[in-house]
Amino acid sequence: MQEKLSHLRTEVESAIKSVKNSADLEVIHNKYFSRKGEIALMMQELGKLSPEEKPKAGQLLNETKKHLEALFEEKSQKIRADGMAAELEKEWVDVTAPGIPYKAGHVHPISQVQYEVEEIFSSMGFSIEDGPEVESEYYNFESLNIPASHPARDMQDTFFVDKEGDSELGRLVLRTQTSPVQMRTMQTKGAPLRIIVPGRVFRNEATDASHDATFYQVEGLLIDENISLAHLKGVMQEFLSKLFKKNVLVRFRPGYFPFVEPGLEMDFACLICNQKGCRVCKQSGWVEFMGAGMVHPNVLKAGKIDSKKYQGWAFGFGLTRLVMMKYGITDIRLLFGADTRFLNQF
Ligand code: PHE
Repeated sequence: MQEKLSHLRTEVESAIKSVKNSADLEVIHNKYFSRKGEIALMMQELGKLSPEEKPKAGQLLNETKKHLEALFEEKSQKIRADGMAAELEKEWVDVTAPGIPYKAGHVHPISQVQYEVEEIFSSMGFSIEDGPEVESEYYNFESLNIPASHPARDMQDTFFVDKEGDSELGRLVLRTQTSPVQMRTMQTKGAPLRIIVPGRVFRNEATDASHDATFYQVEGLLIDENISLAHLKGVMQEFLSKLFKKNVLVRFRPGYFPFVEPGLEMDFACLICNQKGCRVCKQSGWVEFMGAGMVHPNVLKAGKIDSKKYQGWAFGFGLTRLVMMKYGITDIRLLFGADTRFLNQF
């Protein structure tokens, strides 16, 4: 037994030494260490020995077994480590190679200009207000001095929502203008007020190069004591000069909107031709920019503002048209299309 064991010991030792890969390991495991392997056989033989021989032989066998198992374990760890190193070698990456460029999205040109507008008006003390896009007839028309029978309703071809509205506030409409937020803010915040309202509006228009059924407006409202149209002229001149980064002239012409009295249209001097006349200003030297006027006393009343003490002006311009002007975009549909080749230019 002793002799057999020492023989086995040298045999297994040299077998383990010559192992090159995990397949070799497997062979050795099966041959010597498995349940039917040589070491297990030795254990069986131990049982056949006489009681005198057993303890010594048993001890020796145990020692040999432990020694060989440790050797085997050591070798398998080494093989595993080598395998991993080889794997890593194969998977080598060049960490200095330039990466795959990450395509970040960017802000839509309308939003870019909207943020600029907000910043300029904020610097003049205006706060930014918001209102619902699905509006009631009351806020979109009635409260703004446009009763149901009034022909001024025809100025804005309206989308009605096919759902029952509030019995007092009338039917639901997609707001045709940002002006209803004037009324909402007067009612909730009262005078004095200094706000702008950028927002999306909807009209039932046939689409062409300069019209779309959805577009963006910016409403303005200033209410305080001793306010006149001179303040409006000053504010707008300052606003446009900051936006276009040069001195911009503005002019007033009479205009009609039921919620202002007097009402006016404001133009600014064409920046493209310096008033020499071009396609953008239709040879007039002036670009039509917005509607405005002194807030009508009926509107102040509906807004629960004391029209004896306070007065103010309101304006509304097309943000979409301003963006087109700023970047020389000749077709509104490009702005609302999903052609990223166009949008990526901004
Ligand atoms: N809401 C008007 C429009 O959409 C513009 C406007 C706003 C006119 C405020 C006067 C005062 O045409």
